[in-house]
Amino acid sequence: MKNASLRQLQVFEAVARHLSFTRAAEELYTTQPTVSIQLKQLTDIVGQPLLEQVGKKIYLTDTGRELLKVCREIFDGLDRFGMLVSDMKGVKAGKLRLTIITTAKYFVPRLLGLFCQRYPGIDVSLKVTNRERVLQRMADNVDDLYVLGQPPEHMDVEFESFLENPLVVLAERNHPLAAKKHIPPQRLEEEQFLMREPGSGTRLATEQFFREHGLKLKVRMDLGSNEAIKQAVAGGLGIAVLSAHTLALERSIDDLIILDVDGFPIRRQWYLAYPRDKQLSVVAQAFLEFLHAESKLLGEKYLRGITGFPAQDRAAKKK
Ligand code: PGA
Repeated sequence: MKNASLRQLQVFEAVARHLSFTRAAEELYTTQPTVSIQLKQLTDIVGQPLLEQVGKKIYLTDTGRELLKVCREIFDGLDRFGMLVSDMKGVKAGKLRLTIITTAKYFVPRLLGLFCQRYPGIDVSLKVTNRERVLQRMADNVDDLYVLGQPPEHMDVEFESFLENPLVVLAERNHPLAAKKHIPPQRLEEEQFLMREPGSGTRLATEQFFREHGLKLKVRMDLGSNEAIKQAVAGGLGIAVLSAHTLALERSIDDLIILDVDGFPIRRQWYLAYPRDKQLSVVAQAFLEFLHAESKLLGEKYLRGITGFPAQDRAAKKK
């Protein structure tokens, strides 16, 4: 393997990531024949096929998958070294790769805005996806850090909470319960619920609340996005439990109201996580420190603007 060049590994990593010669060639500003030649040479050095083609699709062989892991370790190590050198020169520069769960998209980009202002030399790539894919990316060691609403149970990860994630009950403004105070949770059994898709953290927490209170949950519809649920609630299709963060900056807030149900908000947290054996880069560490310092203040600022939230939240805290 020592005869393999860094360029060959780079070409293989790009093909393996995209599962496409064309896209790998585009990314590396080269041609498809060059990609094929480099891969052929690498395959000869390894002595076993790295890819297999079935119809038009490309798949990694078991050997290819193992080599991909090695490539990631090599490139991660080189990236980390580059960032360390910049840091020694007194500049934080390099790349931060973040993957966040769907609902975190309401506040992470704004935190990143501030982070990038503070460290203009840091280049950020942000991927927003569902819980299942976040966990898969973490298992494949694709990114530096991950944001999610519940740490994974079956993976060896470091995690820490950095911000509140209160879940509230949303209804349309003219709902019969809109003006009521201290609605008992039992009253929710009479309502039709609009739920996030199975596998969503918000859904899991809502189901757990109902289970813990021995209540039946009437699900009218599953919808795969917070935005679709808010529109459906505003349209009077039912009520929903969603993160208060989904209401931050909401222009159509006038159509929605947060119901004052006892036991709500459900108090959850946002977590930053990464595999326990991962070596964090200087840039990833800078982001962790930034979150520690800023998230509480920023979180309060984001949540303060949400109709009804602060008053109920304070009341809940006093109990
Ligand atoms: P979700 O996750 O966007 O999948 O609901 C958020 C959470 O876990 O709180």
